[in-house]
Amino acid sequence: MAFELPELPYDYEALQPYMSKETLEYHHDKHHKAYVDNGNKLAAEAGMDKLSVEEVVKQSFGKNAGLFNNAAQHYNHIHFWKWMKKGGGGNKLPGALQKAVDSDLGGYDKFKSDFIAAGTTQFGSGWAWVSVKDGKLAISKTPNGENPLVHGASPILGVDVWEHSYYIDYRNARPKYLEAFVDSLINWDHVLELYEKAK
Ligand SMILES: [Fe+2]
Repeated sequence: MAFELPELPYDYEALQPYMSKETLEYHHDKHHKAYVDNGNKLAAEAGMDKLSVEEVVKQSFGKNAGLFNNAAQHYNHIHFWKWMKKGGGGNKLPGALQKAVDSDLGGYDKFKSDFIAAGTTQFGSGWAWVSVKDGKLAISKTPNGENPLVHGASPILGVDVWEHSYYIDYRNARPKYLEAFVDSLINWDHVLELYEKAK
């Protein structure tokens, strides 16, 4: 299946003041588009252009770095746009998710500080995650385009900590960006949808 750049699920202004129109224009229209274009070219060269993005990610990991990086970043960004919404974030989680956060991650406050710590301590580019592994939630971080799919887990929430995600709005203040993401941007409905599928 050829990779396609999805439309943003909201206006370019929708996430202001936490994420600017300019950031979304560069991040979606240029960075994500480049992953799609390069991923399609490299998937065709590798004979993997009929596979789903998840399959390309899993099958190229550790074998074809160029294809893996682009396909994984395509997968990560498809969800990243949906992991945010206008008026999102905060500690009002859907019931089933609240229960899992309480039992597996030590409650909302601990989730928040551990998730922000994972993103802050990821050296260089990468992602911080909440994923489901063996039926339980776990927080992790990965470098570059890598994601929990290649570690036998199902990501249900991820935040992009590449500088292209925050440098226009926050300069070098990655923790401030992560705090805004958790407090004001997370679309818990999309997290719940992925959690229900992963369980
Ligand atoms: Fe990104």
